[in-house]
Amino acid sequence: MKVERRITNLIITGFSGTGKSLVAKEVARRLNWDFLDTDDEIVKQTGKPIAETFRQEGEGKFRDLERETIREACQQKRRVIAIGGGAIVDPQSYELLAKTGLIVCLEAKPETIYGRLFREAACNPGTEVRPLLAVDNPLERIRQLKASRQPHYAKANWTIHTDGLGIGDVAEEVIRAWKLFRSASEDTPIVIVRHEMPKQSQEYLAPGLPRSARNDIKKATRSDKEVACLVETATQSYPVFVGYGLLDKLGEKMKQAALSGTATIISDENVFSLYGSKVEGILKDAGFAVDSFLVPPGEETKSMDYAIKIYDFLVERRAERDDIIVALGGGMIGDLAGFVAATFLRGMPWVQVPTSLVAMVDASIGGKVGVNHPEGKNLIGAFYQPGLVLADPQTLTTLPQRELTSGWAEVIKHGMILDKEFFEFLEGNVNRLTKLKPGLITQAIARSAAIKAQVVSQDEKERERKRTILNYGHTIAHGLEGATKYKRFLHGEAVAIGMVGAAKLSQRLGLLSSDAVEHQQSLLQKFGLPTSLRAEAASQGRGRKRGNLKLSLAGVTRAMELDKKVRGKAIRWVLLQDIGKAIIRSDVPQQDVLAVLRELAGP
Ligand SMILES: NC(=O)c1ccc[n+]([C@@H]2O[C@H](COP(=O)([O-])OP(=O)(O)OC[C@H]3O[C@@H](n4cnc5c(N)ncnc54)[C@H](O)[C@@H]3O)[C@@H](O)[C@H]2O)c1
Ligand SMILES: [Zn+2]
Repeated sequence: MKVERRITNLIITGFSGTGKSLVAKEVARRLNWDFLDTDDEIVKQTGKPIAETFRQEGEGKFRDLERETIREACQQKRRVIAIGGGAIVDPQSYELLAKTGLIVCLEAKPETIYGRLFREAACNPGTEVRPLLAVDNPLERIRQLKASRQPHYAKANWTIHTDGLGIGDVAEEVIRAWKLFRSASEDTPIVIVRHEMPKQSQEYLAPGLPRSARNDIKKATRSDKEVACLVETATQSYPVFVGYGLLDKLGEKMKQAALSGTATIISDENVFSLYGSKVEGILKDAGFAVDSFLVPPGEETKSMDYAIKIYDFLVERRAERDDIIVALGGGMIGDLAGFVAATFLRGMPWVQVPTSLVAMVDASIGGKVGVNHPEGKNLIGAFYQPGLVLADPQTLTTLPQRELTSGWAEVIKHGMILDKEFFEFLEGNVNRLTKLKPGLITQAIARSAAIKAQVVSQDEKERERKRTILNYGHTIAHGLEGATKYKRFLHGEAVAIGMVGAAKLSQRLGLLSSDAVEHQQSLLQKFGLPTSLRAEAASQGRGRKRGNLKLSLAGVTRAMELDKKVRGKAIRWVLLQDIGKAIIRSDVPQQDVLAVLRELAGP
């Protein structure tokens, strides 16, 4: 998909009560753009309220008027345009809008909408009651009308669920959508996503609300605040919960997700010895029957042999299709247990409880499950989404330091490819993050998980180019891992070195500034990650002679070419144009790759 160069405006649509006008105004203020509300324009033109025009002239006439207003509005650039809730239903209006603007739809549950409209009416006595409220059962009316418009709202480029958000938060999300869209150049994958990211402790609080109403809303939205994001794929939509100490609520969240029956916890011995009995207790308290199956820790366990051992256990316990698999552990457990869930009885519901940093921000999101084959990693597998993911950053306090450090590479990667602001957040909080300060670590994991969720929601099965950007740093990483038979590096360590390589390659091709290359390198170092093969050897206390390194360069390139991301003959490199701005290139000259690898190996 090519970027539509004429897209110069932001269009805010959505049902009544989703805050279109206030949000659009706030976005315009923050971007220093013009603001225009088509309903206001029509009122100005006709000199009467919209409801009256509708009543007197009929819907057809009103839509004609609205279309002309939209045509006028779209003539200008750098405008934030709030449109009436039904405008997008008109095919010609939609065409006009889609040609010139990024369409952002504000969503809210019918109950939320009703609550907002009701309070708006209560706070503004004397003004005309909205037609939506002037019926016997307004909530039902809202439900019906909204349902009939939903297919049209689905045409928006971006959807923001506003239920738990304030005007400022929604405006921020709109601006993020715009920046992501803008960062898409012709070669960059366009990542326009459905997005839901309620901020902790911030509620949708329309201005002028009485205190009692505020408290009610706070209460109603509190239950949502741990949702870091939704993964929305064609096969399943599910929430990713991130919260410090949230493990205590695992049973509750599973029940909310309509899971029932026997929960079989699959875990490795390390993780189970720390959290197993606690999780068993939590699930029993919530009314689940609980079974546990332990496997040895380590990548060798992620095998068909162990999958079969788990099948045997499930057969013996007479597990049924509605029973649940709970994957409690790092990425190895998530992949193995998820693979069993995908295949046993042709698929059982399952829940991911990631306990390593890699698993929280990467492995648990996206539904890739599988086991290794003696001839290659992850050769056997499926795409199979869980019912929910629940990450409790408190569990990271027991994760071995080297594993934790390695996990930061994927977090930093998410900033590098898509989110400069997040990169800056990481940069500004290195000390507190590496010390696992509860608030900050929770925020970082939630955001990082949301970035991965955005990408996989757009490209569940890696069929398009979008999911490819997650491979930033991974081409060289896979080369390094393959050449050293997966024994020398933890994955994140290899990715860190791979990211330095990819950035240097981007610089050699004239895409990226040396400043940005250094910036990334310095952040990786601050998180304790290796940024060259020499640094890696030193940091692991396993110095290798340079002769050895040089020898292995051929091995690295061979392994890179064997990597499954190779399509045809050319390697698809994920490179950078800036921090937060990834680009995919298949035309990278081999001599540049070799030069970068030599640079990584050191003088
Ligand atoms: N499915 C995907 O999309 C995806 C993405 C990335 C990685 N992965 C897979 O994930 C695996 C790597 O994940 P990982 O790094 O979490 O490895 P891992 O699951 O092997 O965990 C690493 C080590 O940490 C221990 N551990 C985990 N959580 C702990 C805790 N809270 N306290 C103490 N010890 C703890 C484990 O017992 C293990 O020894 C690989 O198999 C990789 O292929 C999958
Ligand atoms: Zn990775």
